[in-house]
Amino acid sequence: MTAPRILVVNGGVACRGSVRTPGEKSISHRAVLFAALAEGTSVIYGLSDGADVAASLAAVEAMGVRVDRAADGGVTLHGGRSLLHQPRTPLDCGNSGTSMRLLAGLVAGFDWETVLIGDASLSARPMDRVAEPLELMGASVEGSGPSCRPPLRVKGGTLHGIDWTTKVASAQVKSAILLAGLSAEGPTIVRERVTTRAHTEEMLVEAGADLTVEVWGEGRIVTIHPSALRPVSPRTVPGDPSASAFFVVAGCVVPGSSVEVVGIYQGPARLGYVSVLQRMGARVTVTPDPDGTATIRASAPEAGAPPLAATKVAAAEIPSLDEIPALAVAAAVAEGTTVFTDVGELRVKEVDRLQAVIEMVTAFGAAAHAEGDTLSITGVGPAALRRTRFDSHGDHRMAMAAAVAAMAVTPGERSLITGFGAVETSYPGFADDLARLTGLEPPAPRALLIAIDGPAGAGKSTVSRAVAAELGLDRLDTGAMYRAVAALALARHIAADDHDAVAALAATAQIVVGPQVVIDGQDVTGVIRSPEVGQAVSVVAANAEVRSHLVRLQRAWAAAKGGGVVEGRDIGAVVFPKAEVKVYLTASPEERARRRHDESAAGVARRDRIDSTRAASPLTRADDAHLLDTTGRTVQDVVEEVLSWL
Ligand code: DC
Repeated sequence: MTAPRILVVNGGVACRGSVRTPGEKSISHRAVLFAALAEGTSVIYGLSDGADVAASLAAVEAMGVRVDRAADGGVTLHGGRSLLHQPRTPLDCGNSGTSMRLLAGLVAGFDWETVLIGDASLSARPMDRVAEPLELMGASVEGSGPSCRPPLRVKGGTLHGIDWTTKVASAQVKSAILLAGLSAEGPTIVRERVTTRAHTEEMLVEAGADLTVEVWGEGRIVTIHPSALRPVSPRTVPGDPSASAFFVVAGCVVPGSSVEVVGIYQGPARLGYVSVLQRMGARVTVTPDPDGTATIRASAPEAGAPPLAATKVAAAEIPSLDEIPALAVAAAVAEGTTVFTDVGELRVKEVDRLQAVIEMVTAFGAAAHAEGDTLSITGVGPAALRRTRFDSHGDHRMAMAAAVAAMAVTPGERSLITGFGAVETSYPGFADDLARLTGLEPPAPRALLIAIDGPAGAGKSTVSRAVAAELGLDRLDTGAMYRAVAALALARHIAADDHDAVAALAATAQIVVGPQVVIDGQDVTGVIRSPEVGQAVSVVAANAEVRSHLVRLQRAWAAAKGGGVVEGRDIGAVVFPKAEVKVYLTASPEERARRRHDESAAGVARRDRIDSTRAASPLTRADDAHLLDTTGRTVQDVVEEVLSWL
């Protein structure tokens, strides 16, 4: 993972400069799948580096395609229909609906069974829209429930063409049917009432498929006859227009900004969002480049110029709806109410994106609501959004849209976007590109470590738990690790002060600390809080060898998790001296004794005395730790203060 898990964004920092977005995702998926079917070698440049396309690549690899990655970014696929075989394990599509739907169509043409699985969000998405036509063609497609949710079991074989009118406007459904049509007997016809993305048709024709397209009212009729594909190589995937929307909107709404996004795919209906922004009065232009791509330039209104104005947006203008989260940010800083009609499909994206957009707009201080399939956003005017903390809901487009909204808040105010790692799905380098455009330091990749130290009863557990939940980070209670060793010593009848024997125990025991504490396979969650363990633990924790062993485990935990919230006594001073935020919690002796009601006041005092006077890493406040007295304060209040130090 290269993206940070949490993004801290300064309001009002202008974006200036040029950026190239990752390869267009839809084209990347298709380039991979068609190269897998094409007899021979295909070299692809500019392939999307997101997790979605990686899932498609891994799937074709699992079916026998050799994939080589070159230092110049080129990806070579050695494919051919005749080379493909049944995958040995289920094909994991991760978060990618495109992978699952297109692969379902592809594997339907082979007489073996393929299982397609996905993450929790993909597993909740409807697959009946592809299952129904594929079954009519002669495949068997099983999923769960009436909407045929994944895992999907596709048994392919001898297919025959059908004449199908799609029920939802979806390029994925159309593509799945056309992929199956490649190996079906007779012509396969797909009618769509509304035109959707045409990458599949364009790229299949390029690869030699017998395919024709006719205009049909507002839509198209696509007819494909059984065809063999040939490699299209080398192929350069143009930049993703959906990804460009985030920087273009930032350019339009953050005062002082001027951004250009180069190398962008400019196929039909893909830059509809630019027309929407132009209608709102934004300064944005599209210039075609000689290589067939486009450069989009966007700049913020000049001082004194009128702000963006609300508009009406019909779903047909932005068929995939992928740019709505970014446009929602423009609507949130516009004057008046922008109305998006027919956007109900947003509910079945990676998350309920309609709800997520409403939450985001509201969190930043504008107003939004949905009625049926209509979304209305009432803006607050320029530079008037307020800072907030927003969670991406695990959705890449929400993470990026929220980053743009955060740039448009009142200058100087900082917002926090949690769950930011979701951008890995489509744009792992988004934060780096943003940093370049704003001239700020790129955020630390991966690790955000928050160290929380302090004596018994200071509130470490409660605060660290709440901070971790707030930020979507994992939490490690290092005290539980010392307690686990003490509990094991007691169980083995080893005296706590038997230095060598206890050190040997710590070195060999398997300690797992999570919601449950498990030592050598035994759940000791309850046992480690017993008075006996409370008595023994300070002595065990004073053992330098035990400490060095547990510190190693603590560092390995953080490396594996990519950061987290770690509580203990020596975390900021010894275990993670470079933690991003260090907190030293205290509370009055009376309050600490009250919180530790399961332990006598004398017991707590004795433990604190040993912990702070021992030779090996005694309880200390690191020089750069924030001192926070929790006496009489609410948890939420303390958590807010900790988060303000991020
Ligand atoms: O946080 P706690 O009370 O559960 O910790 C149990 C004991 O472990 C405590 O007396 C001090 C010791 N400890 C330590 O020495 N270093 C740590 N990082 C965490 C706990």
